[in-house]
Amino acid sequence: MIIVNLKAYSNAVGEKSEDVMEACRRASEVTGKRVVVAPQPEDLLRAEDVEVFAQHVDGVNPGSHTGSVLARGLKEAGATGTLINHSERRLQDRDIEASVNAAKSLGLETIVCAQSPDDCEKYSRFDPDYIAFEPPELIGGDNPVSEAKPGLIQEAVERTEADVLTGAGIKSKKDVEKSIELGCEGVLVASGVVKANDKYAEVKELCEGL
Ligand code: G3P
Repeated sequence: MIIVNLKAYSNAVGEKSEDVMEACRRASEVTGKRVVVAPQPEDLLRAEDVEVFAQHVDGVNPGSHTGSVLARGLKEAGATGTLINHSERRLQDRDIEASVNAAKSLGLETIVCAQSPDDCEKYSRFDPDYIAFEPPELIGGDNPVSEAKPGLIQEAVERTEADVLTGAGIKSKKDVEKSIELGCEGVLVASGVVKANDKYAEVKELCEGL
């Protein structure tokens, strides 16, 4: 699977998120590979015929929680899963667990992000569907994790009970192939797609590496 995280990039929010989502939809249709997009929460409802995940969910029940992101709201907006504890939206361990439980109670798929193999092992006990290993110093750069840290990816896979994804600096078919070779089920990517001139061509290339 390829997860395309739109983060809060100005050329991937609001109306502009629709172009990226359409590029992902087409690439998935043409290659037959699973492509999931994670837009800003207010853009979830813009998705058409493409799988969407949230970028974050809070582990709280409906009630007096101003500013919280509810699993129920995400589900009603069409999300089928959610990222949790992304490097740019980190949570305390107890909140990661609460977020995983809130999402799972409504049948949302869960991807807990981890910065190290130690964290991968630790977060396994929360029983998410996936753990995504992303070394924070490589995020947004041009040095793909698959080239820079193959040993750590392997260690993350060995120490994790859930299926493992990896991300940070992934931009090419070769990066995806290497990640799969190291034992991952897929990759998370953001800047490689969001900043590409031809977003469809970029997502299609990534799919071809699966
Ligand atoms: O969530 C994906 C991410 O953190 C990786 O970002 O820009 O290095 O592909 P990027």
